[in-house]
Amino acid sequence: MASQTTGSWWNDRLPIRAAWRSQLTNYPAPKNFNFWYFFGSLLLLVLATQLASGVFLAIHYQPNPDLAYWSVLLTMMRDTHWGWLIRYIHTTGATAFFVLLYLHMYRGIMYGSYKRPRELVWIFGVTIYLVLSAESVLGYLLPWGQMSYWGSTAVMNFATAIPGIGNDIATWLRGSFVVGLPTLNRFFVFHVFLIPFVLIAVILLHMIALHQVGSNNPDGIEIHDHRGKSGWPVDAVPFQPYFTVKDSVGVGVFLLIFFWFVFFAPQGGGVLIDKLNYTPANPIQTPPDIHPLWYFLPYYAVLRGIPEKFYGVLAFAFVFVMLFALPLLDRNPIRSIRYRSALYKLNVVVLPLVFVWMGFIASGSATEQNMVYGMHVTEVLYCTFWFLPYFNKPRPRWVTVAWFVVFEALIWLIDFWMFATHAHGWPLMVRTTWIPALYVAIVMLSALAWPRLAHDAPRLPERLTAGGLLH
Ligand code: HEM
Repeated sequence: MASQTTGSWWNDRLPIRAAWRSQLTNYPAPKNFNFWYFFGSLLLLVLATQLASGVFLAIHYQPNPDLAYWSVLLTMMRDTHWGWLIRYIHTTGATAFFVLLYLHMYRGIMYGSYKRPRELVWIFGVTIYLVLSAESVLGYLLPWGQMSYWGSTAVMNFATAIPGIGNDIATWLRGSFVVGLPTLNRFFVFHVFLIPFVLIAVILLHMIALHQVGSNNPDGIEIHDHRGKSGWPVDAVPFQPYFTVKDSVGVGVFLLIFFWFVFFAPQGGGVLIDKLNYTPANPIQTPPDIHPLWYFLPYYAVLRGIPEKFYGVLAFAFVFVMLFALPLLDRNPIRSIRYRSALYKLNVVVLPLVFVWMGFIASGSATEQNMVYGMHVTEVLYCTFWFLPYFNKPRPRWVTVAWFVVFEALIWLIDFWMFATHAHGWPLMVRTTWIPALYVAIVMLSALAWPRLAHDAPRLPERLTAGGLLH
């Protein structure tokens, strides 16, 4: 009774209990949440882990070029009790963050969770992706190893691509003509004090926007359209206990995998922590190959693919423009991939495959062959976004022919431009131009030959279906 009184004392002044109930325990969650719905709560878990481990790392870290490397590799890893564990949790957490983020984003794409009324949930999501990427770039400099130093030097150099004022901007960002003490100090402050707060703020907005409209689900059918007498959506169950229990299974499996890496493979063969980062930064010795972390590799393929740095940066930025614009590009009223056409399904499957493919190409050395290859696979990635408006409604044959001609022409024009500017020779380009050209042909010519492949399901179920595990 006494605790109830204390509870109501608080609740009368600060409605935490009411918010906890309406937003968490009693939140109406669609009954058919599947495997793909594990990642939101896992992302929150990794956020908390990164914040907590980051505080302990910051306590021992020295943001000074003479001390930074040793404060991590010696003080933290050897002299501090359990320091190695905290550091490996933080480095593995960074990778886990991006693995989960990519899966979580892909779920949104598959089930059309970016569509009305969830456009803002998506837009805040893409903003989180940008902010988290900035957080990762800033943190990567801190151990002051060779890859930290030269990776950050390469990132800062992208600013020089801006015509006219690029060099001044790069110098201003670095606080010096080369990456040095001022750069390390500001990266430390931004990584530890500024960006985490921005990240938390955007995640809050993401959650508020989601809870305002309610969750989508694997069928993409609005659960709030069918309510019982009490007003409760008939296809929803309260989050507690149904999804707290289900999510705890996800948390258990995730922690097993996560701690396997922390204890048995913390470097992940050079993927989680680059091997070159076990050498202190040396500003007068450039490593033969500078790579970003694995989760940025696909973007590296975009940047490297275009010889003119300015256009490379534009092409890179455009990927984010397309992500933000997804609710505008795909305006088909059907949300879930389950009820979309076979060719749309193909497009959604090709998207992550080419993204990974681009990453593999970028992990190779910077030969001309790899650059051209990367550019052509990037064109397929662009196509997967630009085909979305085509799938918005059934198209007459002439529209399909027009899309085919325009896209094939674009692909060959880009090559012609490269040839005309002496960027690359024809033989090298033709060896890989077939990749985007074939993708355009497969989608558009199949739609011409077998129009049924471009037809969405004629009717949607009225209520949620059980569905398979992955579907
Ligand atoms: C730290 C990063 C993030 C956190 C902590 C986070 C958290 C969450 C949580 C807890 C949910 C509800 C549970 C679920 O649906 O899985 C959710 C839903 C959602 N998130 Fe995120 N999210 C993050 C990043 C992103 C990003 C980068 C995007 C997209 C670019 C995104 C797009 C969405 C969408 C569209 C939904 C609604 C899904 C649906 O109802 O079907 N999120 N997020």
